[in-house]
Amino acid sequence: MAYTVPKLDDYSQETVAREANKLVAALEVESESVHTEEEWKVFRDRWLSRKNGIKSQLNDLWLKAAPTEHKRHIGQAVNLLVSKIEHDVESRHRYVQTYLGFLGAASGIAKAVHELSLERQPIDITLPGIRRPLGAEHPVLRTMNEITGVFRAMGYSVAEGPEIESDYYNFEALNFPPNHPARDTQDTIFVAGQEKKPQRDRLLLRTHTSPVQIRAMLRQPPPIRVVVPGKVHRADTADATHSPIFHQVEGLAVDTDITFCDLKGTLDHAMKALFGSDVKTRFYPSFFPFTEPSADVQVTCFKCGGKGCRLCKMSGWIELLGCGMVDPNVFKFVESNGYDARKISGFAFGMGVERITMLKYGIDDIQLFYQGDVRFLEQFA
Ligand code: PHE
Repeated sequence: MAYTVPKLDDYSQETVAREANKLVAALEVESESVHTEEEWKVFRDRWLSRKNGIKSQLNDLWLKAAPTEHKRHIGQAVNLLVSKIEHDVESRHRYVQTYLGFLGAASGIAKAVHELSLERQPIDITLPGIRRPLGAEHPVLRTMNEITGVFRAMGYSVAEGPEIESDYYNFEALNFPPNHPARDTQDTIFVAGQEKKPQRDRLLLRTHTSPVQIRAMLRQPPPIRVVVPGKVHRADTADATHSPIFHQVEGLAVDTDITFCDLKGTLDHAMKALFGSDVKTRFYPSFFPFTEPSADVQVTCFKCGGKGCRLCKMSGWIELLGCGMVDPNVFKFVESNGYDARKISGFAFGMGVERITMLKYGIDDIQLFYQGDVRFLEQFA
């Protein structure tokens, strides 16, 4: 039953106090049930309306009805109750407004959470991302770095030269004169439209790293010790052991009193460092225009240890690189920089990186290096 203001049976302090407590209790209970602006307006009107609100009932039923001798304390009680009512109605209004504000914010947050919910995403953010695995050295580069490392440890510095080279550096200064038959073994691609240039200036894709021997000697007077890793080109048809583009590491050492013994000792050490200390080396007579004498270096077969197998074609030996003592004719081309063949001597060597890599890891097809197949490459990671 909703609270109504009773008539007072008597105007004693106790009765007024008891009835005032009832009113305050009702006010508080009703106030607590108010949660919306509409409810609050009904609540406000019920308690404060001039037309029969509880406040006006108090005036009519308690104050006006009181005999004169009681008016004073009844008036005080009514005043207190009215300010209590006004205070509670007002503070409930502030509460409702704050409460609604919170509700609004909360529903805004709920809405935002809903918007962001997984089912509503245009993309599936739970899909694993694209992994970019850390790369690894290509096996060819790895061997190349390993070879240069072996020579750096012996005090060699590293030099590089251009892949587009002139006829002069690639052939002429290396003692392949024009029309020399040795040029046929190193056929390559020439840049087109150079017929008007003198032959020595014509550009070609270098067939070996040996032109960097000349470039290095022109840059630095003797003594010199350099290794030259690099890419080279030949007019070879691709097959399991040939590629028109491949890699070499060149070496050159020039000083006073460099002998063939130095060459043998250096390369024997390098082969043992690369293939293990059990390998033996032998130097087999060969020919290169820019070295004299020249040799092919052979190492004992890794597979059969020298007994003879398919890998070494039953010979027990595997040919790995070319080398020789620098031909005095080559020094003539760099004489102006202190290379006097009567005072100095030197040796040079050059090795194919792919071939060495294939032998080291038992790879039977050179093309695997260039196909970019991760299943092959990741075995070296
Ligand atoms: N340049 C030679 C080749 O490509 C290898 C070589 C280098 C031989 C240095 C002797 C000295 O076949």
